[in-house]
Amino acid sequence: MRSLYMDANATTPLLPEVVAAMAPFWTEIFANPSSVHQPGQRARAAVEHARDQVAALLGCRSSEIIFTSGGTESNNLALFGALEPHLAAPTGRPHLITSSIEHDAVLRAAEALLKRGSVDVTILPCTASGRIDPATLADALTTRTRLVSIMLANNETGVIQPVRELAALAHAAGALFHTDAVQAVGKLPLAADDLGCDLLTLSGHKVYGPKGTGVLFVRRKTSLAPLHFGGPQERQRRAGTENVASIVGLGHAAECARNWLTTDGPSNLARLRDRLEQRVLAATVQSGVNGAGEPRSPNTTNLFFDGIVAEDLMIALDLQGLAVSAGSACQSGALEPSHVLRAMGLSEARARATVRLSLTRMTTGEDVDRAAEMIVTTVARLRRIRASAAH
Ligand SMILES: Cc1ncc(COP(=O)(O)O)c(C=O)c1O
Repeated sequence: MRSLYMDANATTPLLPEVVAAMAPFWTEIFANPSSVHQPGQRARAAVEHARDQVAALLGCRSSEIIFTSGGTESNNLALFGALEPHLAAPTGRPHLITSSIEHDAVLRAAEALLKRGSVDVTILPCTASGRIDPATLADALTTRTRLVSIMLANNETGVIQPVRELAALAHAAGALFHTDAVQAVGKLPLAADDLGCDLLTLSGHKVYGPKGTGVLFVRRKTSLAPLHFGGPQERQRRAGTENVASIVGLGHAAECARNWLTTDGPSNLARLRDRLEQRVLAATVQSGVNGAGEPRSPNTTNLFFDGIVAEDLMIALDLQGLAVSAGSACQSGALEPSHVLRAMGLSEARARATVRLSLTRMTTGEDVDRAAEMIVTTVARLRRIRASAAH
């Protein structure tokens, strides 16, 4: 029987048309896009075409797109790059505000900035349903706040944050606004301008493109220092010879995402996710959805089953051919329960009893029904084992 992959928030499969678009760039079109000869100019044209494709997806100018090695680098570039110009300012230490539900690529970067002693950092709490309340941001902003970084869709719960409101508050206080949109791009229609952000992160491998590629959108006239020093690539903001084949793949994936977003793909995906939740919850006691009631990205569900250990469930499902996650991909296997669920106030036991299922664009109704059936029977079996072990 066909195995089921429901871990799209960890990574998505490459679309076959993306593989095909990349193919010539591993072989005949290999020149350096900075070379002035004709082969170099062909590579340059391909990179610039990909830039146009990404800009079309994000509703921004091509000149506002910087290619990076992925979401992690884009987030680091946003935080370090936006704060660097303020480090020696006579107005005092710059202040960064971020939130307790961010990905480690933001939280660890904020921690590194704090450890250097050059930046003050405030980490905003979230509500019990995993949302950042704009009122908490309003309270935390100071005259020294230079950057606010709040994600658009959470990788674990899918909860969509009120970014438009948060960005407006940051701007009113004179700060820049960055959003980690890795889990939103290609799932929700969005436009960088409409959201009002100055910096926005996306990752290639979460939008059916290649791993090791990403983008930082940088609104024009935004002051941003580079992380890498070397050649003048990417408007002097990201030195190093471009990863041409992967950039071409990312561009193509962006175009596919843009087309998919104009279809009923997102609403169908949300319907499938809802069907999965309904089937599982109707047949399983002491279970529920973390983040339910909030607007969520259409492919994500975060389900808890009290009394079980999520890792046991994940492994048992894996043995039956269903891939899910017990936490974010970077944390799988770690003993620490998810920092996002803990920030939402879940008990350690419930956080450890939670699995995430994230559907792909290819998931079908039949897949969802099979997955629901497997989850229901496996949770019941694990609970029986646990009950008999307790006697
Ligand atoms: C919300 C979020 N931000 C950033 C990243 C990191 O992206 P990348 O794997 O491209 O470095 C991830 C990956 O899981 C993510 O989910």
